[in-house]
Amino acid sequence: MPDENRSPDMRYVELPGTDLRASALGFGCASIKGRVDRRTALDALERAHDLGVNYFDVARSYGYGEAEAVLGEFLQGRRSDVLVATKVGLAPPSHNGLLRAALPVARRVLSWVPQGVRDALRDSAAQSGATEAAHGRFEVADVRESLETSLRKLGTDYVDVLLLHECRPADAKDPELRSFLDQCVQQGKIRHYGLATSVGTCNEVLREHSEFRVAQFASNLCEPGMEKLTTSGEVATVTHSPLSRGNSLVQRIADHATQHPETGQAWSARTGLDLRTPGNVARVLLSYAFQQNPQGVVLCGMFDAHHLSANVGTAVHPISGDALNHVVQSMRETLASGVLE
Ligand SMILES: NC(=O)c1ccc[n+]([C@@H]2O[C@H](COP(=O)([O-])OP(=O)(O)OC[C@H]3O[C@@H](n4cnc5c(N)ncnc54)[C@H](OP(=O)(O)O)[C@@H]3O)[C@@H](O)[C@H]2O)c1
Repeated sequence: MPDENRSPDMRYVELPGTDLRASALGFGCASIKGRVDRRTALDALERAHDLGVNYFDVARSYGYGEAEAVLGEFLQGRRSDVLVATKVGLAPPSHNGLLRAALPVARRVLSWVPQGVRDALRDSAAQSGATEAAHGRFEVADVRESLETSLRKLGTDYVDVLLLHECRPADAKDPELRSFLDQCVQQGKIRHYGLATSVGTCNEVLREHSEFRVAQFASNLCEPGMEKLTTSGEVATVTHSPLSRGNSLVQRIADHATQHPETGQAWSARTGLDLRTPGNVARVLLSYAFQQNPQGVVLCGMFDAHHLSANVGTAVHPISGDALNHVVQSMRETLASGVLE
């Protein structure tokens, strides 16, 4: 990507082990054609790009298989300016035409429901596996077909990163699969391949196979990801769910700070931010994600324009140092005590 296309107001990282230069804040596309409709998604993607975000994470399974097509619309005319990571392994969840037709109505109904209730519903849908199955399928024929479909939907002839979505160690270690992935790199269909799974699986695979150049996993207050990564090799780290799967934790922490003034004031005094406000809590959690993954990309969905601009601000000027560590540790202890459940 030419230098003049990079926003001076974004922080970029050279991803170790790759030739990719990515914005430290990446855009997560999991909600496209699910929680978020096409028009809202396209507006948000364009806003993000204008603010310097150049890394976009999608998957074959997102949006009932349609998120890639929306990202593909956005890519037209700017493909070489941006980096696209997609995934293979999880098929889009099947649903019938009736359900698909009901989605726009469901979105309208959900827009009347308070945010906290929406987050709880989404969290429970994710936990029930409604959006993602437990493990992917990685037979070469399936992976080939999935990649071809992704390229067609995205309207491009290559992806920058192809990730094995919720793979197990044995899936990634399969020599046939790795040789197929190498072939795809040689053919120019993918620039790099990697893992999008648990940090434990990443550790196990990367110990033996440094050809996986990207390790993607959750890393946040509740799910220590970067803290558990053991590889010392050259691997690009892409962490997701900085606010902890959706953003209901943000609200719960803000509520806790309001209902327990002593704790709230202590947190606020440390950071100089009023942590009864969800936006400030998000700033703390995101700053922590950037601190934990300084050379990598932190992914977040941010379809709301205020969320996006706040997150870009945090990417460039995160809270750092002892104050951040102290408050995060205190929030962790509060979580562990169960009072935030
Ligand atoms: N296996 C995997 O590799 C895997 C698993 C999970 C996720 N991911 C990727 O990671 C991305 C991020 O996932 P996620 O778990 O963080 O969920 P997400 O679906 O991106 O949810 C983030 C939530 O936080 C809100 N938000 C963003 N910035 C905020 C702010 N400053 N203040 C308050 N709320 C804010 C967003 O609202 P708005 O959108 O309305 O702004 C959204 O509701 C996904 O989209 C996906 O691309 C990958």
